Amino acid sequence: MNRRKFLKIVGSSAVIVAAGGIGFVATRTPSDALEPWNAAGSQYSDPMRRALSYAILAPNPHNRQPWIIDIKSDTEAELYCDLERLLPATDPFSRQIVIGLGCLLELFSISAAEQGYMADIRYFPHGENHDRLDQRPIAQLSLVKQDGLAPDPLFAHVLTRHTNRDPFDTERIIDDGVLGRLRGVAAISALVGTTGDGKQLNDLRTLTRDAMVAEIMTPEAYQESIDLMRIGRAEIEANPDGISLGGAFLESLSIFGVLSRESLADPASSSFQIGLDMIDAGAMSAMGFVWITTQGSDRTAQIEAGRAYMRVALQAAADRLSMQPMSQALQEYVEMAPYYKTVHDELAKQPGERLQMLARLGFAKEDVGPAPRWALETRIRES
Ligand SMILES: Cc1cc2nc3c(=O)[nH]c(=O)nc-3n(C[C@H](O)[C@H](O)[C@H](O)COP(=O)(O)O)c2cc1C
Repeated sequence: MNRRKFLKIVGSSAVIVAAGGIGFVATRTPSDALEPWNAAGSQYSDPMRRALSYAILAPNPHNRQPWIIDIKSDTEAELYCDLERLLPATDPFSRQIVIGLGCLLELFSISAAEQGYMADIRYFPHGENHDRLDQRPIAQLSLVKQDGLAPDPLFAHVLTRHTNRDPFDTERIIDDGVLGRLRGVAAISALVGTTGDGKQLNDLRTLTRDAMVAEIMTPEAYQESIDLMRIGRAEIEANPDGISLGGAFLESLSIFGVLSRESLADPASSSFQIGLDMIDAGAMSAMGFVWITTQGSDRTAQIEAGRAYMRVALQAAADRLSMQPMSQALQEYVEMAPYYKTVHDELAKQPGERLQMLARLGFAKEDVGPAPRWALETRIRES
């Protein structure tokens, strides 16, 4: 199918009507996959499960949700990484996976404070493995009741924070006050930087776009994403993780054979070309960037980077600012080496400083909904 024909189909609501009409639209929401967003908090009476029910809503790479929680009691647990859920092609040292676990730990801590519990978190109680994650726990979690513990105002934004991949509104500048709040919201163990204009903004737009294009031109790296795409409601409900391509519109395209894993992987296809256009539109509409660096990159630094990212993302949500990580240039596979060098030369200038997260910022024209999650019950084991 050529691009013009594809666009004609895309531009026509007839495709949805042909696929079953309004009733079809109404039934395409993957309700079970989104249920953890409704279940958070209210369905759990003990403080551990209650805090964890929010923590599993944390951002994490490719929505792999690589967490397993061993619950020992209502106030004690251990966090493990699910080694079946790594991303070997794009995240060869599992650095990003650990950042996602750091996001979960910060959300756990914020949600515990909301209930009057201080979260005592000990990282890597049996040591850490830098090159390859292993079976040892990521963290030991204890909840300690504390009278007068101040709740964290960021808690109010846990359910409205979502990664937004749409183009942002290029008419709306991000003011310095908003950027300053992002820089100030995290602990000092991870540094937060921002830009909202000028040459640096333009350079980062093109760099993140070019790095993302390089990724989808690298078959092994891109195939890892394609394998994790869930196309349509049935696939999303069966595997509420990975990259979901849902909604009546995309599902209709898939029914018509326009959108498939094969077409997404084929550089000659319309889907691939449209993907390139979407990458360009997203990156070039960035109205700012936020980044997080650490000194060195041991596992603890990666956890701290994740905790900082979580706080930045919640603060952005508080200011109704949208965010999307643009991680490709930070990744450690050979095709990324030139982008990795450029972005580190630009944003991590101190000796030993390591860039851990880079995300574009802007005001979106529309809110996006939540991403699927596995239910908490499927991610815990009791001992
Ligand atoms: C370490 C890390 C890297 C990520 N990199 C990207 C990325 O390069 N592009 C992107 O669109 N989202 C990226 N994300 C966002 C995840 O895809 C997102 O958190 C996940 O799909 C769940 O969706 P949610 O954040 O809306 O809950 C990243 C998240 C983390 C924690």
